[in-house]
Amino acid sequence: MAEDAILGYLAAAEEIPDSGQFASQHGLHHSDIVNVIKSLHGFRYIDAQDIKRESWVLTDEGKKYAAEGSPEVQLFLAVPQEGSISKDELQKKLEPSVFKIGCSQAGKNKWVDMGKQVSRKVQHVEDKVKDLLIRVQNGEEIGKDDVNSLKARKLIVAQTWKGYSVRKGPNYAPKRKKVATDLTRENLQRGDWKELEFKEYNFNAKGPPSESGHLHPLLKVKQQFKNIFVQMGFEEMPTNNFVESSFWNFDALFQPQQHPARDSHDTFFLEAPSTTRELPEDYVELVKRVHESGGYGSRGYMYDWKREEANKNLLRTHTTAVSTRMLYALAKQPFAPKRYFSIDRVFRNESVDRTHLAEFHQIEGLVCDRKLTLGDLIGVLDDFFSRLGMSKLRFKPAYNPYTEPSMEIFSYHEGLKKWVEIGNSGMFRPEMLLPMGFPEDVRVIAWGLSLERPTMILYGIDNIRDLFGHKVDLSLIKRNPICRLGIN
Ligand code: PHE
Repeated sequence: MAEDAILGYLAAAEEIPDSGQFASQHGLHHSDIVNVIKSLHGFRYIDAQDIKRESWVLTDEGKKYAAEGSPEVQLFLAVPQEGSISKDELQKKLEPSVFKIGCSQAGKNKWVDMGKQVSRKVQHVEDKVKDLLIRVQNGEEIGKDDVNSLKARKLIVAQTWKGYSVRKGPNYAPKRKKVATDLTRENLQRGDWKELEFKEYNFNAKGPPSESGHLHPLLKVKQQFKNIFVQMGFEEMPTNNFVESSFWNFDALFQPQQHPARDSHDTFFLEAPSTTRELPEDYVELVKRVHESGGYGSRGYMYDWKREEANKNLLRTHTTAVSTRMLYALAKQPFAPKRYFSIDRVFRNESVDRTHLAEFHQIEGLVCDRKLTLGDLIGVLDDFFSRLGMSKLRFKPAYNPYTEPSMEIFSYHEGLKKWVEIGNSGMFRPEMLLPMGFPEDVRVIAWGLSLERPTMILYGIDNIRDLFGHKVDLSLIKRNPICRLGIN
């Protein structure tokens, strides 16, 4: 439409002097006219010259007064025709800003007597400000002094208007020729390729985005953590079993069978196969005994331990289940110190929100050696987290059934300017280690954290569902930087 209007007009006229006027005369949007001008200009159907004009537009405050009247008139109208009104009463009748500006302007105009009591000095006033604003709104010209006073009151601001003047170009035609973009089989068969005009190649056009795989942020941060563990001499544990028995997930960790975490509200139990096929019987017997009556200086939990409970299959709730299997295997060998880590998926029957999903990734590290102390744990954590750029750490006493002492780990986040919880840690209890058969002076220090939390901080994502799960926007994965320099 806009194209026909421009080309048609130029068939009879020398020039379109102003695209803005042209648009309003033809009832078209100026932005549409501008787009067509640019395109026709590109194909040299027309020549176009820029025009710039300063114009005035209303600010939000200006728009408000154009609709509701100026504050001074609003104030004047709120003062009774006869007698007076107290300043307090008057204030109650008006918006605070209208009252404030109205007082000063109406006073300046000598419309009212301002004192404790306010009364009218004149009987009629005209809302010149409102009238001027409406004229500006309609695109009419107003006098220089008026412009200055509205500008000083911040009711209007300057805006540059851009448009074009247009004349015929070297390729002018009253109608744009359709150019062919492809040479088709039919063109060849019919022989009409001889008459066709083909579109020129545009060597500046962008090509289609190249298709390639993209690494998910979680994978990249996971690799970063792996590198740190490997640099620190840790070996990776095999975590390729999402299904675990309650025994390895809870019982072997000295987690009592009536512990709330073992409830189906917190744990996903399997329907089929609902129970595990085999457990190491000798060891099961020792674990049962330590739960029921303790040993190794412990009183145990003093309840009847049930094998059926231990047999139940579940989706592992933490990778500490894998650590436990590994420690059990280690204890069967002649003792040698070990450093193990894993990063893999765990599952919890939690309600999903901005920071929680029912499945996430856990990072876990452990060191097993003779005579380790809490000081060693703090030292290893300091080393580990400072390699991630988190060198300010704090620890808070915590509770896990399988560690004593236990500590929550906090790090000072420079961006958020506060301490954020980043993980959980502790020394595995003798009730867990001794039934496995470790020598008495062997200690295991361990810690765990989620992979999602640091990834969200590093990539500035505040909703976990944007990072992981079926609602993830694939373009986030395409757009995220290939590498980040620095770790914070
Ligand atoms: N398993 C713990 C959790 O799920 C993490 C942890 C690992 C704590 C090792 C202490 C020692 O949060």
